[in-house]
Amino acid sequence: MCGIVGYIGKREAAPLILESLRKLEYRGYDSAGIAVINEGRVSVRRCEGKLKNLETLLDRDPMIGSIGIGHTRWATHGRPSETNAHPHRAGDVVVVHNGIIENYLDLKEQLTQRGTKFSSETDTEIVAHLVAEKVERRMDFLEAVRKSLREIHGSYALLFLNQRDPKRLIVAKNSTPIVVGWGDGEAFIASDIPALLDYTRKVTFLEDGEVGEVSVDSFRLYNGNGKSIQRPFKEITWDAVAARKGGYRHFMLKEIHEQPRAVADTFRGRISLKDGEVSLEDIHLTANQVKQIKRVHLVACGTAWHACLVGKFMLEEIAHIPAEVDYGSEFRYRSPLMDPRSVLLMVSQSGETADTLAAVEIARQKKAKVLSICNVVDSSIPRKSDGVLYTHAGPEISVASTKAFTTQLTALYLLAIALGRRNGNLSRPQAKKLLGDLMHLSHWMEEALKLESEVESLARDLTHSPDFLYLGRGINYPIALEGALKLKEISYIHAEGYPAGEMKHGPIALIDETMPVVVLLPRDRYFQKTLGNLKEVESRGGKIMILTDEEKLPSDIPSFGVLTVPKASHFLTPMVLSVPLQLMAYYIAVHRGTDVDQPRNLAKSVTVE
Ligand code: M6R
Repeated sequence: MCGIVGYIGKREAAPLILESLRKLEYRGYDSAGIAVINEGRVSVRRCEGKLKNLETLLDRDPMIGSIGIGHTRWATHGRPSETNAHPHRAGDVVVVHNGIIENYLDLKEQLTQRGTKFSSETDTEIVAHLVAEKVERRMDFLEAVRKSLREIHGSYALLFLNQRDPKRLIVAKNSTPIVVGWGDGEAFIASDIPALLDYTRKVTFLEDGEVGEVSVDSFRLYNGNGKSIQRPFKEITWDAVAARKGGYRHFMLKEIHEQPRAVADTFRGRISLKDGEVSLEDIHLTANQVKQIKRVHLVACGTAWHACLVGKFMLEEIAHIPAEVDYGSEFRYRSPLMDPRSVLLMVSQSGETADTLAAVEIARQKKAKVLSICNVVDSSIPRKSDGVLYTHAGPEISVASTKAFTTQLTALYLLAIALGRRNGNLSRPQAKKLLGDLMHLSHWMEEALKLESEVESLARDLTHSPDFLYLGRGINYPIALEGALKLKEISYIHAEGYPAGEMKHGPIALIDETMPVVVLLPRDRYFQKTLGNLKEVESRGGKIMILTDEEKLPSDIPSFGVLTVPKASHFLTPMVLSVPLQLMAYYIAVHRGTDVDQPRNLAKSVTVE
C-alpha cells in the first residue's frame, strides 16, 4: 500500500504534491519522490525515509512546473532505498504505482532480452519501460499505456507523465483505489480522498480496468475495451479526519474491512495454480535444504503468537514438519533444542518486537536457519533473517492487529504448502486443491464482513458484561485466544480463550448466567465434541454466542445469538472466523466509549524487553 498524487493546472506542482503526500503518509513512509515537467523536461527527486527528507531535498533544490506526480512508498518489491523509491523513469516516461505486478519477473526477463537495463529492484520500473519503449516508437501516449496494461497482471493504481507529451497525465486502475478531483482549470489525482480535500470536493472514482486521460480542461475515461465512459463527479462531504480513515470511524474498522484485499495481496504473484507451486524466492531455501528440516520453531508475541499456533497446524498437517510455538519472551530464556537442521521462524507485524528479535541470537548460536514472516519491509527482524516472507498488508495503524493477523495466517499457509511440495509430503494435486481454496478466501471474508450489523447489535447487548469466555478447538482454538485478546485490548473487559475440551478442567467454574461464552463451532471434525461442550455451558446457565459455518444447527441448541459465516476450507476457516470476532471486539469497545485505535497502556511496536 503506497500513496500516489498527481497535479495538472496553473499552480506550482511540487509544493502542492508534497502537501498532498503528507495526507497520504499513513499509507507508507519508507521513501518518497516527486517528478515534475518544466519546459518539456522532466526532473525527478527521490529519497529514502519519511517525507521530511524529501521536503529538505526540495528546499535545497526546488522543482518548477505545473504538472507532476508524487509517491510515498510502502515497500513490497525491493527494500526501502532511494533507487527503489518512485517515481520510476524510463526514457521520456515517468510512473508512480501502488499495487503489485504479479508477472514482473517474466516481463523483466523479456525486457532484458530486448536490451533494457534496470536501475531498481521494483516491479514498477518494468511498467515504465513497457510504456517508454512504445512512446519511443512514436506511439500515442494513451495508446502506449493501454497496450502496456494488456501485458501486466496484478493490482495497480498507476499514474504516468511523459515529457514528450507534457499536457496530460494518464491514470489507470485495477484492484487498487485511485480518484481524480476537479478544480477550476486544474485536476488532482490521489490514492485516497484526504489528499484532495484541501483543493476540491468534486471527485471521480475510477473503476477496475479503467484508464483516464487528465488535462487542465478535460477528462476522458475509457473502460478496459477502450470504450469512452461518461461518469458524473461526486461531491465529498467527509471532514479531513474521517477522510484519512477512508470514511470509517476508526482505523481498526478500516483495517478489518481491508482484509479481503490484504490477504489477496499476500498470495498474489507467489503462486502457480496450474503447477500447484508456491514461489520460495524470498525464503532462499532449496528443495534439498527443505528436505533436511527437522523442526520449525515459531516465535512471536501477542497476536502474531496466535498466528504461529495456527501455523503449527498448517506446517504439521500440510508439510509434515514438526513445529513448536514459543512466546519471544519465553524462548529467549529457555534452552531450546536446536541444531543446523532446525529453522527459527519469527512472525511479526512490525519486525521490531524486541522479545521476538532476541530469538535470532539463540538460533545463530545453534547454527539454525533464520526465517521470518513480517509486514514492515526491511525492519530489524527481516534484516536479521536469512529469508523473509512479507505479508503485504500495508501499514497497520490501529494498535489492535487485524489485517496483520489474517495476512500472517495466509503467509503461513503459503509457507506450509511450499515446504510440503519441496519435501515431497504434499502431492501436486493436493497442493493445487489447497491453492485453489485460496482463490475463494477474499470472497469468504467479504461475506463474513456482511455480518457487521448483526455483530453490532449483539455487541450492544453484551457491552456491560464484565467477563467473556471464548472456546474453540483444533486449528480454531488459537482463534478463540485471538478473539479474547482483541476484546481485552480495546474494551478492557476481562476475557479468556480456551480449548473447548479443556473447559471442564477449570474455567467451567466461572460460568453463570452473567457470563457470555463465545463458541466457535465450524462443521469440522470436532463439531459433535464442541456441541457437547456447549451443553456443558448451557447447563450452568452461560450466555452462549455461537459462531458457525453450519446453516442448519440442531434445533435444541440454546443460544443468545448465532453468527453464520460462509463455509470455508479447513485451513482457511481461521481467517474467516476471525472477522466477526474482530468486529465483536470493535463494537463492544465503541459502545463502551474506549479509545479504540490507541488503547490505554499499549504501543503499536514493543521495542523493549
Ligand atoms: O509487531 P508484532 O507483530 O511483533 O507485535 C506483536 C504484538 O505486540 C502484537 O501482536 C500485539 O499483541 C497487538 N497489539 C495485538 O493486537
